[in-house]
Amino acid sequence: MNSSYTHHVILSFILLFSLENIELVCGAFFADPTDGFTLVPLTKANFELQKPYDIPLEQRYSFKDGVHRLWVYADDKPHSPNSHTQPRTEIRINGLDYNSGVWQFEGYGFVPNGTSGATVAQIHGASHGATTLILRIYNGDMRYYSRDLVAKNLYDKWFRLNIIHDVNGGTVTVFIDGEKKFQANDHGPGDLYFKCGVYAAPANISYYMESRWRDIKIFRK
Ligand SMILES: *[C@@H]1O[C@H](CO)[C@@H](O)[C@H](O)[C@H]1NC(C)=O
Ligand SMILES: *[C@@H]1O[C@H](CO)[C@@H](O)[C@H](O)[C@H]1NC(C)=O
Repeated sequence: MNSSYTHHVILSFILLFSLENIELVCGAFFADPTDGFTLVPLTKANFELQKPYDIPLEQRYSFKDGVHRLWVYADDKPHSPNSHTQPRTEIRINGLDYNSGVWQFEGYGFVPNGTSGATVAQIHGASHGATTLILRIYNGDMRYYSRDLVAKNLYDKWFRLNIIHDVNGGTVTVFIDGEKKFQANDHGPGDLYFKCGVYAAPANISYYMESRWRDIKIFRK
């Protein structure tokens, strides 16, 4: 073995070793909520729209340049004539209902200043109650139902939302812009699915409610 070859082998070894270390160190700082998850491909059929039953969709929803815009008024009708729920215009992720495993929703959301008392994202279904997770905007802040603060000052800017539901572990975790903001126990397994848009809270709602969503993705483990 000539010495330049040996030198080369040693250098390569050192380089490889330090690259691995850089990855380890960076991994700790730049861990992404989607690490270790597999993307579930979506088609148009996975996006079911719910809106006040007595008006056409285009009066409460638009899709332009990749942005879903959904809005609703406090005195709108529910999504079905038989329902007594609050008004909503929502995307219901369809065809991917789950009752076990680890699932993740990702989307970039935007809530205009003025929208308040509106659920902008949720996990529908649970053993106890109708929902596992409700994320509402009140005066620009995001709350878990009307309670715990999840994130502040979200008006008029795009934010990245990731929700991880570990059904077997019984937890839901919320990330804003890649940062873990909130974790809670879920409400037991059930027929579970993700939704986003605007759904009026029981109280303290603004007359006009709007949220926008783009790059919606579903992942699983
Ligand atoms: C939202 O609008 C109100 C009323 O116009 C204004 O006072 C407030 O500063 C705005 N908030 C943000 C975050 O822009
Ligand atoms: C509505 O807002 C009032 C005043 O901020 C507050 O006291 C009340 O608890 C709120 N109601 C609900 C259901 O959030």
